[in-house]
Amino acid sequence: MRFDILTLFPEIFQGFLGESLLNKAIQAGLIEVRLHDIRDWSKNKHRQVDDRPFGGGPGMVLMAPTVVECVEAVQAASETPGRLVMLTPQGRRLDQAAVERLAANERLILLCGRYEGFDERIRQILQPEEISLGDFVLNGGEVAAMAVVEAVIRLAPGVLGDEDSSASDSFSGERRWLEFPQYTRPREYRGLEAPEILLSGNHEEIARWRDEQSRRRTLERRPDLLG
Ligand SMILES: C[S@@+](CC[C@H](N)C(=O)[O-])C[C@H]1O[C@@H](n2cnc3c(N)ncnc32)[C@H](O)[C@@H]1O
Repeated sequence: MRFDILTLFPEIFQGFLGESLLNKAIQAGLIEVRLHDIRDWSKNKHRQVDDRPFGGGPGMVLMAPTVVECVEAVQAASETPGRLVMLTPQGRRLDQAAVERLAANERLILLCGRYEGFDERIRQILQPEEISLGDFVLNGGEVAAMAVVEAVIRLAPGVLGDEDSSASDSFSGERRWLEFPQYTRPREYRGLEAPEILLSGNHEEIARWRDEQSRRRTLERRPDLLG
């Protein structure tokens, strides 16, 4: 699977791409991530990409020609056109169902905004899928793009060591409940014992216990998920 990330701050991604599961997946050739500096498409001699909003008001707005031409050039650079995703607080809120939909694409092009956001004509011309990380405002789309990459690659074949591990995750599988509580060594810590059943070796009983815990936890914390 390939990601193209369009940003004014490509350096933000260096540490992110160099660590953990994502880095292993890149090294193994399962995932490819290309960074594109939107500023490279500015025709201005000062590499300006933004300007004051028409009608007045604070901040600067990303100019349509630079962003549109950047996206079109990146789209044309591969035979797989890819799905264009604009990161914006005005988009549909990201959830596991949206992540599953995005993970079905061979190529995702992630467009990160900055400053006061995008000139409206960028949306009108490119017609991207608009995705928000939540009902709050970030300084830029980069953290949101990282969240999309992390969530999507968990579903890409071969990325997680154990293919079953994402199936029991919260919000996953057919039921989309929260995951059951997990324990590991030591067996007892500060007077708190791990549940005996998990050490019993009885896989059927353990599965039943986990199922019940998952249901209870979802009921207590996210009753909306039970429908
Ligand atoms: C300061 S924000 C602009 C917000 C814009 N003025 C508004 O009120 O809708 C700058 C950029 O950060 C990114 N951003 C901010 N909040 C986000 C969120 N909740 N989800 C995804 N991207 C976000 C977007 O790319 C946005 O263009």
